[in-house]
Amino acid sequence: MPIDAANPVPPTYPRRVGMDQVPDHVPQELIRSAGITYAPDFLAAPHAFMADLHDKMPPLFYDVGMMGNAWQAIKHEDALFILRHPEIFSNEGATPFPRDPDDYFYFIPQEIDPPHHRKYRNIVDPTFSPQGVMKLEQKIRTLANDLIDKFIDKGECEFTEEFGRPLPVMVFLDIMGLPQDMRDTFVEWAMALLHSNDRQIMTETMQKITAYLKGAIAEKKANPDDGVVSLIAHAAPGGVPLSDKEVFGFVIFLFIGGLDTVFATLNNIWLYLARNPDKVQEMIADPENINAQVEELLRVWSVTFSGRVLAQDHVMRGVQLKKDDRITCVLPACNFDPDVFPDPREVRFDRPRQTILAFTVGVHSCMGAHLARLEIKIALQEWLKRIPNFGLKEGAHIEYRPGGVVGPEEVKLVW
Ligand code: HEM
Repeated sequence: MPIDAANPVPPTYPRRVGMDQVPDHVPQELIRSAGITYAPDFLAAPHAFMADLHDKMPPLFYDVGMMGNAWQAIKHEDALFILRHPEIFSNEGATPFPRDPDDYFYFIPQEIDPPHHRKYRNIVDPTFSPQGVMKLEQKIRTLANDLIDKFIDKGECEFTEEFGRPLPVMVFLDIMGLPQDMRDTFVEWAMALLHSNDRQIMTETMQKITAYLKGAIAEKKANPDDGVVSLIAHAAPGGVPLSDKEVFGFVIFLFIGGLDTVFATLNNIWLYLARNPDKVQEMIADPENINAQVEELLRVWSVTFSGRVLAQDHVMRGVQLKKDDRITCVLPACNFDPDVFPDPREVRFDRPRQTILAFTVGVHSCMGAHLARLEIKIALQEWLKRIPNFGLKEGAHIEYRPGGVVGPEEVKLVW
């Protein structure tokens, strides 16, 4: 029975945390506490940690963790199956962000299963289609160069603060029709929500974001413009206007999905390139191959996960999964699956084309994927034109925050 986003109700299935809440049907030999997203050895080198899962863990295991117990799928083939079968692996209630049960809403389109899901995607897909985002190309190039102008003569920069973060956040605010002077506040909220791993901080941050976005939506309702917040606020699919809860759930999810992911990806890529000047020269020598280069970098440096909830019992790899169990596709691990990507840790720009899972596949594949790819491509092209030789500053300390979007906090570069 598909959920009705105009009349949302909190999910009834349990949120299990800790060893004493492992359901009886989970075989003892498949229980682990891997610490994906927060353990010290994960935070020391998250992508190496996720690549290592293929040597250290069963292909499907039950992880008992502080953010909730869930099955973890690390094989590419299993993730493709899970993501392409929403009737078995539902998105309803699958997002970890806390909400007020008395004023509940769904994250749209993320938590909506087919067939309702399409109605929402149809509203915004044209803006985020390949043709839609190409309209932004010149603007993104100009912005990238304006940012580089500010620090190129210094011979050094803190990449996150001066380039990796402002570039996608400014583009995002522009698309949404939200004010640029809120940039730092939005980043602070996104960080608290996605990286605190603390339910109390997440709840307080949700309240702040909620108050702000409700005000912004009211303003767009009164004064329409050509931004995405206004587009959603005035949408009436099939002639029926979206309810206030639908509008809010949609706008807030874009905020969550669109802010942090691109800059985490850029940070990972620039850290890698700073450590691998030979790869930089390989890219510069073959500019026509930029699209394949971006895909390969996205494979190795993918940053997030796909959580689902079992809508029915299902057997996978001989393991009984039960209705209401949670399962996570560890997308970065799937992108290191040696059965699909030989020598998976190697960045190879001439790999045969395969489905990469950075943006997921299936009905919930990332709505911002074309925009993200374009931003990454332009950022690389403009940067490498002007700063072709760069490295990590001596003594630079690389630290990762815990949380569901994986990237280094700061990357100090010199040239
Ligand atoms: C490199 C950057 C990005 C990455 C790696 C990324 C990754 C993902 C992934 C893995 C999902 C699927 C989650 C799931 O299966 O549960 C997703 C969904 C989504 N993303 Fe992105 N994303 C990126 C950028 C963006 C941007 C820039 C936007 C918006 C402007 C955006 C909006 C969305 C939305 C709305 C969904 C939900 C789609 C649906 O449920 O139909 N993402 N993203």
